[in-house]
Amino acid sequence: MPGPETVPYQALEVDDPETTGEVILAEYSARRSVRDFSDRPVPKRLIELAVEAASTAPSGAHRQPWTFVLVGDQRMKRRIREAAEEEERQNYVGGRMNEEWQAALEPLGTDWQKPFLETVPWIVVVFEQRYGLDESGERIHNYYVKESVGIATGLFLTALHRMGLASLTHTPSPMRFLADLLGRPENERPFVLIPIGYPTDDCRVPDIVRKSLDEVMVEVTDAP
Ligand SMILES: Cc1cc2nc3c(=O)[nH]c(=O)nc-3n(C[C@H](O)[C@H](O)[C@H](O)COP(=O)(O)O)c2cc1C
Repeated sequence: MPGPETVPYQALEVDDPETTGEVILAEYSARRSVRDFSDRPVPKRLIELAVEAASTAPSGAHRQPWTFVLVGDQRMKRRIREAAEEEERQNYVGGRMNEEWQAALEPLGTDWQKPFLETVPWIVVVFEQRYGLDESGERIHNYYVKESVGIATGLFLTALHRMGLASLTHTPSPMRFLADLLGRPENERPFVLIPIGYPTDDCRVPDIVRKSLDEVMVEVTDAP
């Protein structure tokens, strides 16, 4: 049987990989989840570039099982805010969030109110495609959907950050309301909601500490 069609692979040429890695680390370290956004406009092209960058992500069987839904319309942003706040109200003050969860969120100072959902120029809701649809509308199996969409979302956040934009990874759960409000098809499920914009001039973020290399990496030196 003939193999698949192939094209030559071209690795990036990097003169000084270690310095490049250090620059990448410094840039990534500066990314923070922002919850105080200004209404400064963001050209739609920047969001499009970030979506295309995200869509280069590896995915199970190359199904690319994601849809990035872009919302800039003020009335839709208001509807999203109202519905998200209703879910979050039930989570934070309606008893749906258990004590352990509340304690974990306390250092972040978050609450049910999400005014930034109306202030930001753009909201992108990432949807995972639980299954695909072929041209005749037949279901196609997708593989490792959550892993694939998670990686694409990571690339998306990084692309936004590299363009000087601020974002928040937001999950006002349960997020079913997003599929309804945005009229998404049956095969799509909300994965994450991402407000995107510029921070306010006096924006502050929680003083968090990230795990050190020792805490997140182990090297296996002895084969059993
Ligand atoms: C899957 C996921 C869900 C999150 N959901 C929320 C959320 O609903 N609201 C919120 O304010 N932050 C949310 N965050 C942001 C985290 O609180 C934040 O990433 C973490 O505190 C680390 O801060 P940093 O992003 O500034 O490094 C979420 C992050 C992830 C990865």
